[in-house]
Amino acid sequence: MMWNRKHILDMESLSVEEISAILDTADGLKEISERSIKKVPTLRGKTVVLFFHEPSTRTRVSFDIAAKRLSADSISIAASSSSIVKGETLIDTARNLEAMKPDVIVIRHASAGAPFLLSRKVSTPIINAGDGMHAHPSQALLDMMTVREVKGRLAGLRLAIVGDISHSRVARDDILGFTKMGAEVRLAGPPTMMPAGIDALGASVTYDFDEAIDGADVVMMLRIQKERQRSFLFPTEREYSRRYGLNIERLKKAKPDVMIMHPGPLNRGVEISPDVADSMGSAILDQVTNGVALRMALLYLVAGGMRHADDH
Ligand code: CP
Repeated sequence: MMWNRKHILDMESLSVEEISAILDTADGLKEISERSIKKVPTLRGKTVVLFFHEPSTRTRVSFDIAAKRLSADSISIAASSSSIVKGETLIDTARNLEAMKPDVIVIRHASAGAPFLLSRKVSTPIINAGDGMHAHPSQALLDMMTVREVKGRLAGLRLAIVGDISHSRVARDDILGFTKMGAEVRLAGPPTMMPAGIDALGASVTYDFDEAIDGADVVMMLRIQKERQRSFLFPTEREYSRRYGLNIERLKKAKPDVMIMHPGPLNRGVEISPDVADSMGSAILDQVTNGVALRMALLYLVAGGMRHADDH
């Protein structure tokens, strides 16, 4: 298909055809990272700005590596070392960045909607690398890529997403993405961490982990996002772990070939036991590996790399 979308803002706005095109492109680009010389000239002469207002390890580094593997120049700026600390607004900062003629701006921001705002204020393509509790499309897409790689399909699979659903932009975009591609999504977590009306996105809701995991093909565990919680939403970590932690015993209720996933960072011993996180069925580091190929695909598509498809 011809790629026409300028910004990657959330899973809600992507069509099934666009999601398939991104996943197929990422599959094709993955082998570049297996080469001894991990670089192709596809985005030579392009500039990618990584503008991160929140901490990140996986997303920031993988976008940076992705840009470099495609021969783009990448520049990272953090809010703490930018003129935002002197009072410059987000829009003024973005307009000043745009004045330096980058080809893509990748932004992570604590406020939901910040990437949407920028997409209306600047003409440079914007990729949302996570905005508040709203969306994290590149994470949902790499999750779909990883499941499709292992299971060979997405349609008809049963995915359980367990934990702090309320504060999770990953959960929201995974629900939208996986259901769009024909998977069944079940959510489980404490009532205090389950937003009212989340089932309207197409997932079923339970407060019982054992019910959610029963017959699951994929179990996606989520971290408790203490930094976003305004009040205590569970009695103790020990109690939370007993009710909503994934351990070997609980895993027996899922399918024997269940995939265990987690977007990271992990809180070992809270939402996931170390033996499960490091088990054979764990795809947690495969998600990170695929994150590079998936973000190469996003940069390639929005920066116009398709016009240079014969370069590699
Ligand atoms: N999964 C994820 O977004 O991780 P980082 O916060 O480390 O980027």
